[in-house]
Amino acid sequence: MNILDIIEKKKHAKELSENDIKYFVENYVNGNIPDYQISALLMAIYFNKLSINETYFLTKTMIDSGETIKLNSVHGIKVDKHSTGGVGDSVTLVLGPLMASVGLVFTKMSGRGLGHTGGTLDKLESIPGFNINLTDDEFINNLNKSNISIIGQTANIVPADKLLYALRDATSTVDNISLISSSILSKKFALANDALVLDVKVGNGAFMKDVEAALELSEMMVSLGKKFGRNTKAIITNMNEPLGKAVGNSLEVIEAIETLNGNGPKDLEEISIVIGSKLMHMAGITKNEEEAKNILYKNLNNGKALSKFKEMVELQGGDVTYVDNTDKFKLSKIQKNILSSEEGYVEEIDALQIGISSRDLGAGRLTKEDSLDLGAGLILNKKIGDYVNKGDILATIYTNKEDVVDDVSHKITQAFSFTRDKVTYDLILKEID
Ligand code: URA
Repeated sequence: MNILDIIEKKKHAKELSENDIKYFVENYVNGNIPDYQISALLMAIYFNKLSINETYFLTKTMIDSGETIKLNSVHGIKVDKHSTGGVGDSVTLVLGPLMASVGLVFTKMSGRGLGHTGGTLDKLESIPGFNINLTDDEFINNLNKSNISIIGQTANIVPADKLLYALRDATSTVDNISLISSSILSKKFALANDALVLDVKVGNGAFMKDVEAALELSEMMVSLGKKFGRNTKAIITNMNEPLGKAVGNSLEVIEAIETLNGNGPKDLEEISIVIGSKLMHMAGITKNEEEAKNILYKNLNNGKALSKFKEMVELQGGDVTYVDNTDKFKLSKIQKNILSSEEGYVEEIDALQIGISSRDLGAGRLTKEDSLDLGAGLILNKKIGDYVNKGDILATIYTNKEDVVDDVSHKITQAFSFTRDKVTYDLILKEID
């Protein structure tokens, strides 16, 4: 077997065997096959696609390229969620404590933000002292103590994905359903969870721009879950405007705390409750999702979910006084309201432009090495369906970078479009069981 035969096979749209897939992944990770040959293979895969079996073997080989975390010593039913990435998406910060509050164990390895999307790790680090780098033992101890821990992906998890993802990024081969599915699920399944819900975002602020593509990706991932014997479901949610009102790290943590206090934006609350109710039903602790939703709404209003958030912050070294008093978060110095020059119902808020604006204000990164201003970002004062008069505040921006204010103000104004007619917005577009 050699890499040229494998490239040739895929070039002619033939099915790769398990051995072919093992051969190219293992030898690429070991440094025996150069980038240019794997680049050619990725492009052949991009055009000729992988079958579900090939995708399964690719995912399996990627998991086997690194360490897996068994979690045998963690007591209870372990649940996890994954979002394909959006703007203002702080669901993990609300859902995790909710799951812990009903006795499920929320075991999560999260990522950092890149480009226009935010990352849970950056958000959590806006709480002074919060440590996302726990050892496996610390992670497991915290899970046993409080049912929740959110940490960064350890270096030894799925090394094949780190290499392949970087190469896909550099060769324009990211947006292939099989490559995305194997990349996401290899990282999820390296951790031994009992139930997983995938939140596949669709819309102007998401990776997937149309529902058909999102459906194809969701069905592929749910089918792969079945092949791995893992309880996996997916929902497709609308990212044609940012989720919630806050975009930016400290700002999103404050909003998540408000949501855990029962005072958050309804869209962020709804997605957290829908995913949570699925996980509870999948874990077998409620008869149906409706029963689960009632329990979850209660726990948002009786302080139980918030107290789990505080436990997690404390166990991971964070300053809990910030949770009790969110005025302590240090927001960026320049704060400016963006006013509307138009009137009408908000028809669309270009989430991509809002994400880029937040990044430019200092809340995001262009490259992995960029440092963040954790107090930067923006708060949307109007959402789709709201009526706006001329002069109303559309958003408030927070930054320490004077030179970006004019450009970002223009971008945000442009991100809003208006209509004379009433507008409705469907948040949950499909559920794939
Ligand atoms: N997120 C991932 O982890 N991998 C992809 O390929 C795309 C999104």
